[in-house]
Amino acid sequence: MKIAFQAGLPAEWTAAVLIVPLFENETPGEVCPELHDAAPWLLSAPGLADFRGKKDETLLFHGPAGAHAARVLLAGMGDNPSAKTRAERLDALRVTLGGATAWCRKHGLAGALAVPVSALSHAVGSNDKDDRSVSRAVREAICGALLGLYRNTAFKSGTAGQSPDPDPERLDLLMAASLPEVEAAAREGEIHAQAVTLARNLANAPANRLAPADMTEEAARLAARHGLRHETLGMDDLQKLGMGAFVAVGAGAAGNPRHAPCLSILEYAPAGHENEAPLVVVGKGITFDSGGISLKPSAGMWEMKGDMGGAAAVLGLFEALPRLGVQRRVVGLLACAENMPGAFASRPGDVVKTLSGKTVEIVNTDAEGRLVLCDALTYAQKRWSPDVLVDVATLTGACVVALGDDVAGLFCEEPELAARIKSLGEAVGEPFWPLPLHERYFEKLKSETADFANAGSREGGACSAAIFLKQFVNPEGAAKARWAHLDIAGPAFLTRKIPNCPAGASGFAVRTLIDLASA
Ligand code: BES
Ligand code: MN
Ligand code: ZN
Repeated sequence: MKIAFQAGLPAEWTAAVLIVPLFENETPGEVCPELHDAAPWLLSAPGLADFRGKKDETLLFHGPAGAHAARVLLAGMGDNPSAKTRAERLDALRVTLGGATAWCRKHGLAGALAVPVSALSHAVGSNDKDDRSVSRAVREAICGALLGLYRNTAFKSGTAGQSPDPDPERLDLLMAASLPEVEAAAREGEIHAQAVTLARNLANAPANRLAPADMTEEAARLAARHGLRHETLGMDDLQKLGMGAFVAVGAGAAGNPRHAPCLSILEYAPAGHENEAPLVVVGKGITFDSGGISLKPSAGMWEMKGDMGGAAAVLGLFEALPRLGVQRRVVGLLACAENMPGAFASRPGDVVKTLSGKTVEIVNTDAEGRLVLCDALTYAQKRWSPDVLVDVATLTGACVVALGDDVAGLFCEEPELAARIKSLGEAVGEPFWPLPLHERYFEKLKSETADFANAGSREGGACSAAIFLKQFVNPEGAAKARWAHLDIAGPAFLTRKIPNCPAGASGFAVRTLIDLASA
């Protein structure tokens, strides 16, 4: 679906379906005064009072022959806007617009959709003077409208009556006069949605179609599209550099070269920012996590094709950075491997030497994410002396037990950075909640044989994973990086559909990372 604009007299606005989002007890004429000219027939339509504005409620009105706005779709946003926070209003806009575009597609309305900007600014309670909140409303509405149409169709054949309904051809933003900041905000919303879509498609791809080599090729293509720097360290490079933990995770699958572990590196450095200390984002890229020799139970194991959701989010970020023209140097690392059992796989009890020099006893081969991440984090600090270092990973089932599958865990001892990630996430519908990094959790990782173990007891599993990673952050003598660890195991891959996302990969964290890089 294309995003376009109509700036001009409301009486001349045209649309196959004009979408108007409304809270309960609001009237169309009040949220969008231009309707008096754009669709005067609506305001006296006999069924108008049937619409309550309840969440998910939709009601379609047909205009008279020849009307410029042929139809109006009223879309409910739920009750009590005055009690809603800014983040909740933005959420209502995303969900309602996404619901409306999906509704139109489902009902065969695939022509030109449209939404008046005035209705969007009304929904966030803004007066005309407050450009920033109008822009934000537009950005979120457009992003939601596009993500509401997301489908995981890459592996459907399209034969035997399986052809999906066509997407609406376009969505126009309607305004009385052209507003450059509104148009820019709409483009931003579009870029965000495309970045999320990329991440979803990757994490939905099955492991036989998306191996570590495919992740690297994806990164290379992205780099070529946008003129970014890209390089890959293959298994031999990782071995030579001394990333014993990283290599151990991928050893079981390395017999197939496309499935061998690799570290893919992307760099975005706009002119004038080439030499600044970068934001470095490290993504867990386990293209399949069988558990390895500590094999997972078979029920639900297929979901572990999504265990590269962190790396997919980093790719989503890099899809957006150049298109948004972000003014900051950003480095992205995709720590890719396939965690498989096999004759060459690492065994429980194996001891590996990490790039940091510390040794780790692999007591559980299913705690593999931290093993690839620890070496990638060490490498990142040695090579770039990051200003901010963020890792994003589907790291622990314990985090899902703690927070559920709507909310991600946020581990960060820098109050300012933690607060920023939390509030940026909230504003884009990606909630993060702080969890502790107390040194006490490290006691669970005691090892008789090595410096420490890669896993402890079940209790507090998200925190002991985080404290494991902390052992590799800010080693003595290095320039200090502000570090945050994002455990997205819950929200990155869902077994149920949620608003604006079918079951499967969600692309969680992409939008927060984009805004973090942009802030
Ligand atoms: N990829 C999993 C974590 C996970 C679980 C992600 C559920 C998404 C949904 C991770 O590699 C893992 O297996 N973690 C173990 C760690 C344990 C063995 C210490 C876990 O959480 O059970
Ligand atoms: Mn695992
Ligand atoms: Zn895993």
